[in-house]
Amino acid sequence: MPVCAICIWGRIMTEPLLSLKSVVAGYGRTQILNGISLDIAAGERLALIGRNGMGKTTLLATIMGLTQLHSGSVTLNGAAIGAMPTHRRAGLGLGLVPQTRDIFKSLTVEENIIAGLRGDATLEEAYALFPRLKERRRNGGGQLSGGEQQMLAIARTLMGRPSLLMLDEPLEGLAPVICEMLMGVFERLAADGRTTIILVEQHAEMAVAFADRVVILDTGKIAYQGSRAEVQADPAILDRFVGVGLSAA
Ligand SMILES: Nc1ncnc2c1ncn2[C@@H]1O[C@H](COP(=O)(O)OP(=O)(O)OP(=O)(O)O)[C@@H](O)[C@H]1O
Ligand SMILES: [Mg+2]
Repeated sequence: MPVCAICIWGRIMTEPLLSLKSVVAGYGRTQILNGISLDIAAGERLALIGRNGMGKTTLLATIMGLTQLHSGSVTLNGAAIGAMPTHRRAGLGLGLVPQTRDIFKSLTVEENIIAGLRGDATLEEAYALFPRLKERRRNGGGQLSGGEQQMLAIARTLMGRPSLLMLDEPLEGLAPVICEMLMGVFERLAADGRTTIILVEQHAEMAVAFADRVVILDTGKIAYQGSRAEVQADPAILDRFVGVGLSAA
């Protein structure tokens, strides 16, 4: 479905789903995010990119309540959540698939998914998204391949019915065929309009192609943001901040 950039910006201007204002955050006293202001509209797809160590994971962790918020504010649907513990943020609809693909390795695939079920979510739903997990349902989490572990980590988070799904380098180290399959799942989730997605990815071309808007982090600050069309029209943008130019369309 074509995306109306004006509609998206309009929604951002009126009532963002998530809003960060002048966020300074880090680990203990160490400051990593140096003043991030960012609004995300409901239904938006945001690509968050940047070189290693620039603060992408820290930004997702801050939204989730896993870092120390030194100053600034984080609001969800207008309500301040900056002091709220992580489990309450999850209950309000924030879902993170961490870069570390946290799954319970000693539990089976099925037990892992059941542990993530919330509301009316069902096992069958998870298996419909990832048929491979149904085949492996009796296997322990630790017996899965990297791709299968990532599917499980994503399925578990999705079964919590997040309205904002944050994916931290979901394609890292996976074969191209698995990357394509996962991107197809993200497309389907985004297309129904109920799930807002922040995708952190080193595969910059894929992330940009997926996104409505691209945000580039550089040393804990937003160094650039623009629409997918703007980024695709100017390969120098990615080249400058990420070190990879997009191939000419
Ligand atoms: N638990 C931690 N305690 C202290 N510093 C940390 C911690 N985790 C990350 N950092 C530091 O914070 C900075 C940003 O790290 P972060 O993991 O957010 O970067 P990133 O953009 O996600 O990088 P990558 O692309 O490698 O995943 C880095 O300098 C890193 O060393
Ligand atoms: Mg990271």
